[in-house]
Amino acid sequence: MKALVYYGPFDVRVSEMPDAEIEQPTDVLVKITTTNICGSDLHMYEGRTNMESGKILGHENMGKVVEVGKSVTQIKVGDMVCLPFNIGCGHCKNCESGYTGYCLTLNPGFAGAAYGFAGMGPYSGGQAEYLRVPFGDFNCLKLPEDAEEKENDYVMLSDIFPTGYHATELANVQPGDSVVIYGAGPVGLMAAHSADIKGAGMIMVVDDKPDRLKLAEELGAIPVDFSKSPALDQILELTKGLGADKGCECVGYQCCDKHGVEHSNIIMNELVQAVKATGSIGVVGVYVPEDPKSKDELQKKGHMDFDFGQFWMKGQRIATGQANVKSYNRQLCTLISIGKAHPSSIISHEISLEEAPDAYKRFDKRENGYTKVILKPEMSGPSKT
Ligand SMILES: NC(=O)c1ccc[n+]([C@@H]2O[C@H](COP(=O)([O-])OP(=O)(O)OC[C@H]3O[C@@H](n4cnc5c(N)ncnc54)[C@H](O)[C@@H]3O)[C@@H](O)[C@H]2O)c1
Ligand SMILES: [Zn+2]
Ligand SMILES: [Zn+2]
Repeated sequence: MKALVYYGPFDVRVSEMPDAEIEQPTDVLVKITTTNICGSDLHMYEGRTNMESGKILGHENMGKVVEVGKSVTQIKVGDMVCLPFNIGCGHCKNCESGYTGYCLTLNPGFAGAAYGFAGMGPYSGGQAEYLRVPFGDFNCLKLPEDAEEKENDYVMLSDIFPTGYHATELANVQPGDSVVIYGAGPVGLMAAHSADIKGAGMIMVVDDKPDRLKLAEELGAIPVDFSKSPALDQILELTKGLGADKGCECVGYQCCDKHGVEHSNIIMNELVQAVKATGSIGVVGVYVPEDPKSKDELQKKGHMDFDFGQFWMKGQRIATGQANVKSYNRQLCTLISIGKAHPSSIISHEISLEEAPDAYKRFDKRENGYTKVILKPEMSGPSKT
C-alpha cells in the first residue's frame, strides 16, 4: 500500500509499504478515507522527537471497515468509523477510568499508545491506504448515517476537536467564563469552538498569524495579535485588569516570541499573568521530558524557568496532558450530527496522499492559508481493493 513515511528531519515521502493487515483476533482493518496532518506531526517532522526512520505517520484517521478479526463483535465490515489518536486496551486501570490516553498495556514501560507517533508504541500511522486498529471494538467510534456527507467534520473527532474540548475541561471552563486561549492553530481553534459550545462569556485567542486569527474570529472569539502589541496588555485591557477566568495552552514547547525565536517557558509564564487569581489553566500543547535539539540549556532537559512563586501566590491550578479522546468523541459526534458543531470550518486544504510531502513543508512554515490539511488517500488511486 501507499503510505507517507518519515525518513528523517524534514524528509517525508510517499512509499510502497507492506499492506496493513489483521494481526490479532481483536483487530479491525480500516480503509482510510480521510487522514489529517497535525501540529503534533510537525514536532516529529522537524526532528524534535525520537521518531524512528521508516515509520508511517498519521494519527487523525477515519475510514471504512474492510475486515474484522474473529473476536470482534460490535464493529462490522462496511461501518464508517473514526479512530481516536490514542489507542487503548479497554481493560487496564487507566482505560477503565476513562484515561485512554494513558493505557498501561499497549506500550509497555510507558502510559499511552498512539498511531504513527514518537515514543507511543510500534503502531503504524494512518497517512496510508489502510490502517490496523488494535482492540477494534473499543477503539472504533461507529459514525452515524451521515458519516460520508459530514466526513470532514467527523474526522476531527480523531484528535483536534476532543483535544480542544479537553483543554477547556482541564481549565474547567464554565458558562459565562472569560477564557484566554494561546494558539490559533487547529487545536486552539477547536478549544475556542468548545468554549463557545460550553457557553463561555468571552473567548480571546492569541497568535500572530492573521489567517488563523480570522478563523478564531469566525468561531466567535476575539483575536489577540501579539505581533501588534503584547498579548498580556490586550488581555488585561479586555478583562478590566483582572485577567481571564480560565486559560488554555494550545501551542506547546516550540512556542515563539514575536521574532519567531523559541522559548519553551514564554506562554506558561504569560498564562500565570493573563489568568486571574484562583483561575485554572489547561495545557494540551505538548511539552517533552527531553529536547536535545533545543538551543536552551534548561529545555534540553525538558525543564523550564517557571514563575512558580507568582503561580502559587495567585492560587491558580494547572492541569495537563494528552486528551482522552474516548471520553468526549461520542458526545461531540452527536453535536456534529445535530448541526451544533462544525469543526470542518477550519480546513484549508483537501489533497491526495502524493501531495502530502509538499503540504508538510508548507504547514511547517505556517504558510499563510495552511491551517488544517486533510488527506484523501483514495484520491491517489489505491493499490489494493
Ligand atoms: N494534548 C493532546 O492530546 C494533543 C493533541 C493534539 C495536538 N497537541 C499539541 O497541541 C499543540 C498545537 O497543535 P496544532 O495542531 O494547533 O499546532 P500548530 O503548530 O498548527 O499551531 C500552533 C500555533 O501556535 C502559535 N504560536 C506560536 N507561538 C505562540 C505564542 N507565543 N503565543 C501564541 N501563539 C503562538 C503558532 O503561530 C501556531 O499558529 C501542539 O503542541 C500539538 O502537538 C496535543
Ligand atoms: Zn493530532
Ligand atoms: Zn488500557
